[in-house]
Amino acid sequence: MKFAFLFSSFIHDLAVATYVGGAVAMEFILGPAQRAIPPAQAQVMGEKTAERFLLLVWISLVLIFLTGVWRLYLRGYIGGDALFNAPLTLEFAYGRTAFALFLVWLILVINGALITFVFRPRLTSRMSAGVSQTQAQGSRDSMMAAVQWIEWLTRIDLVLALLAVLLGASLIWGGLF
Ligand code: HEM
Repeated sequence: MKFAFLFSSFIHDLAVATYVGGAVAMEFILGPAQRAIPPAQAQVMGEKTAERFLLLVWISLVLIFLTGVWRLYLRGYIGGDALFNAPLTLEFAYGRTAFALFLVWLILVINGALITFVFRPRLTSRMSAGVSQTQAQGSRDSMMAAVQWIEWLTRIDLVLALLAVLLGASLIWGGLF
């Protein structure tokens, strides 16, 4: 039991650190570096880094969820007697905070899905030969719009993840609000 508590906390914290650290690195290190190099190289760099970063994002989000639910179970909030007196309902700060944490996690998943399945494919699609100038311009505009969306979604994710860290840390003391 002690091992399960330690192991679930260890993996939860490691996954949170990977997610937040990755988002900070993308925003403050890779982003500025990318803007400082020629566009063609920036595109290749963006493709390669996003590919690896998104893999880490998805592994982290899955592990955060599984270990988060596991910890609630170990604490007795799901399927057993709570170690504390407050059950996992919206009447108590612990339940409200855990619910808020779940909502933030859900938004991170939705944003991750938008980046992975909607906006990133627009960046990697290659123009075929023989397209008209209007089509080429349209494709470039769509790419630029996708870059903007990815930048904003990544920024929003970083802010939300920091909020989630605050909510998670407050759970240990019974919840934030
Ligand atoms: C489905 C979503 C999640 C669930 C069910 C969940 C559940 C939990 C639980 C049960 C705890 C331990 C609280 C206690 O000891 O009483 C915890 C702690 C924590 N969580 Fe999560 N969590 C989730 C998502 C997140 C996310 C998205 C982040 C940040 C990006 C996060 C960051 C933290 C932090 C920083 C702690 C405190 C440090 C620790 O004890 O590990 N959690 N979480």
